[in-house]
Amino acid sequence: MKYPKEYLDEIKSRLKVSTVVSKTVDLKKRGKEFVGLSPFKNEKTPSFTVNDEKEFYHCFATSEHGNIFDFVMKTQNLKFGEAVRYLANVAGMQPYMFSKQDEEREKKWKEYSMIYSRYVDYYHNELLKNETYSNARDYLKNRSLGKEIVKKFKIGFVNYNSTFIEKFKDEFKENALLETGLFYIDDKNNKLVERFRNRIIFPINNLSGQPIALGGRIIEKKDYLAKYINSPETNFFKKGSNLYNLDTARKLSNKSENIYLVEGYMDVVGLNKNEIENVVANLGTSLTDKQISTLNQFFDDIIICFDGDESGYKAALRAAENSIKDLQPDKQISFLFLPENEDPDSYVSKNGKNNFLDFSKNSKLSIHQFIFNHYKQQTSNDPSSLAIFEKKLRNIANSIKDTLIKKYVLEYFLEKISELTPHQSQIKKKRYTKKIKSLEVTKKHFKESKQFSGVELKEFSLIYLMINSLNILQENINLLDNIKIFTDENKTIFNSITEKLKIEEKLHLEDLDLDNQIIDKINRFAPIKHILKNKINNDFEVIEILEDIKRDLNNYDLEFRIQELESRFSKDFSEDTFNELKELKKRQNIN
Ligand code: CTP
Ligand code: MN
Repeated sequence: MKYPKEYLDEIKSRLKVSTVVSKTVDLKKRGKEFVGLSPFKNEKTPSFTVNDEKEFYHCFATSEHGNIFDFVMKTQNLKFGEAVRYLANVAGMQPYMFSKQDEEREKKWKEYSMIYSRYVDYYHNELLKNETYSNARDYLKNRSLGKEIVKKFKIGFVNYNSTFIEKFKDEFKENALLETGLFYIDDKNNKLVERFRNRIIFPINNLSGQPIALGGRIIEKKDYLAKYINSPETNFFKKGSNLYNLDTARKLSNKSENIYLVEGYMDVVGLNKNEIENVVANLGTSLTDKQISTLNQFFDDIIICFDGDESGYKAALRAAENSIKDLQPDKQISFLFLPENEDPDSYVSKNGKNNFLDFSKNSKLSIHQFIFNHYKQQTSNDPSSLAIFEKKLRNIANSIKDTLIKKYVLEYFLEKISELTPHQSQIKKKRYTKKIKSLEVTKKHFKESKQFSGVELKEFSLIYLMINSLNILQENINLLDNIKIFTDENKTIFNSITEKLKIEEKLHLEDLDLDNQIIDKINRFAPIKHILKNKINNDFEVIEILEDIKRDLNNYDLEFRIQELESRFSKDFSEDTFNELKELKKRQNIN
């Protein structure tokens, strides 16, 4: 028999690995870890480490690795059950009484599933037959849902005045009824109340097709009522683990490689009505790793099709960033974006099955395309913004657990980015205008400008802007405060210009007395010169551009400091470094 996860977790949470290990091994603290002589091997220098936070030990000499249960099994030659009993005792817990608890849970499950089945059947039949339920039937008719589809999904309706609960009360204990989440206690009169009263109910089944929870939709719009409610979590229903309609859809896995993942109950029902049956919904919460891995057990290709509105887009992005980590070879996740204000249900009702399938085939974006496009839209075509963009995509690629997929996605990102760099895209544009000469010039320029780093180019832009808008800056001199300059040469020029701006009455370019060679270089390579040309007399725009440059330079500063700290942290694992890092990352997110 299996120990329940909660019991084992309880033991683990009470006992640190170092506490258990130090009963037999002398441990010394080193940073976040402990080290000692390996219990698995005779040695003179310690190669055995314990990490309490990660809840494991690791022996570098023998590659032995595990948690507290493994440790006592190996060092005391115990079986798993014996190790659990031993450690429970050390943790001051009662030994686990298997049969009794298990029987109890089994009994509870029987009762729970019985209540749900009876409940779902009853209100489904009422919806089909009861005369007084005509308002609910009209509602469904208006949404073009006929008897057949209502039967297929065992949709029901809980009438406001239903007395069904009275029958239940004689058969089941109040506690058992409460534990289903179908009812709650009304504080005023201490009576059981139907949670889903006046709602259309959609049964949510477990994988074997047994109802374990409900989704409920109001049929008359009232502002103080949520359009949908779901069953609360219970002993047998955990939101992030279940998917609506998976019990039925999974049976199609031998016919269909792909599964549509949508937001709403009505989307599942609507697509089914249009003969698209390989569809599940994720019950109004963010998509979890568990849901993706469950779907992957049955289907190789998940198509996430959320509503064509802002919240649908945001949910899709969240889902993408979260699920790319667990991407597996031979499995695909893609995204389908519907036209604005459509959801899968409305789209397929208007356009029909074939149109939906064609649209899906032609317009779906693979997960890495979607992520790339999203961040590209937020990036402007200047070196600093591109640098941050690249860093973000590298981070996302690095979060992928599977090494092959990681490599492939990273390559995809980097290739797409290289297509984007301003000089290169300039080359491409020129190609079409057939001006061979200017193409050569551009190429040369591109090659030459490659000798400068992104930061240097940004600094050139800053100085270029300064010497071309002296008067504007003189009137707004404090805009030049707190600017981070990295290169010595540029810093000297920047300081000298700033000083003069502060002292002189009306400053002219000739008064600056700058090294001609440097000014030449800046004039040639400052990426901003194309942008600034037509705006030089527009105070407002100049200031705006200056602020942008300033922010980018400060971001570089953060970037560099974060990189430095990250490399330090990978060596010292010190708490201070970590906190500092966290702080900087927070600031980076704000900028
Ligand atoms: N949802 C929820 N609580 C709400 C609104 C929505 O839990 N107050 C969840 C439900 O699971 C719902 C899904 O989010 O099915 C999608 O919501 P929405 O797009 O608002 O509804 P539709 O599926 O379009 O339903 P309908 O067509 O009936 O309006
Ligand atoms: Mn809808």
